[in-house]
Amino acid sequence: MDNHSFQEVIRSRRSIRQFLSTPVEEEVLREILEDAQATPSNCNTQPWDVHIVSGAKKEELKKALLNTSEQGQATPDFTFDLHHYYGRYAERQIEQAQTFYGELQIAREDHEARQKEVMRNLSFFDAPHVAFLFMPSFGDNVRVASDIGMYAQSFLLSLTARGIGSVPQTILGFHADTVRQVLGVSDDKKLLFGISFGYPDQEAKVNSFRVGRDPIESNVTLHN
Ligand SMILES: Cc1cc2nc3c(=O)[nH]c(=O)nc-3n(C[C@H](O)[C@H](O)[C@H](O)COP(=O)(O)O)c2cc1C
Repeated sequence: MDNHSFQEVIRSRRSIRQFLSTPVEEEVLREILEDAQATPSNCNTQPWDVHIVSGAKKEELKKALLNTSEQGQATPDFTFDLHHYYGRYAERQIEQAQTFYGELQIAREDHEARQKEVMRNLSFFDAPHVAFLFMPSFGDNVRVASDIGMYAQSFLLSLTARGIGSVPQTILGFHADTVRQVLGVSDDKKLLFGISFGYPDQEAKVNSFRVGRDPIESNVTLHN
């Protein structure tokens, strides 16, 4: 995988939602973390506070998350503003859901099957590892959140370059208190999102399709 060109790596990355149980070797994980540590940040503050959870701790956390979710006790540190999407943004969100549930042959009105898919987030799609991206709180948090986003992309691409699959998960941030409690993280650290990762299950239907992107003209204006 080391010989993959950058273009191959960035264009082949996609979200993986079913993993093999095979763990990532510790020295490989350390290399990936070294790669991600090279991420730029505002004033070089390096505000990421990353917790990698595996093994028995991951099982304990999964149980706790399913439990709090069943009780309807969401404790997000940040809002999720889906209902604020408009125009092309809203269309893209709908297209993504249509592709996802369409490929899995889950009908729009099959709320139970849809909910079951959503709940798979909380068992990390059977991944052997999950990373939680915590951050300190500075002002309106926009700058620090963008630093964490950059860290996340470095981490995702480093995983991809080594044939390791991943999925960023806002949903894991909906239960910030539970995650902090199980991992012993203090309240001043805010949870932006989690990333489940491991070797992809190549046989799984959920990993067999991709969602598209608009042409660059939709997002980029070239000025001369
Ligand atoms: C910050 C962030 C949060 C996301 N949260 C979730 C999530 O909670 N659950 C999920 O299944 N996918 C989640 N995704 C994956 C997106 O749906 C996915 O990146 C998008 O549809 C593009 O598909 P691709 O990653 O396969 O290219 C998230 C992605 C990002 C960047």
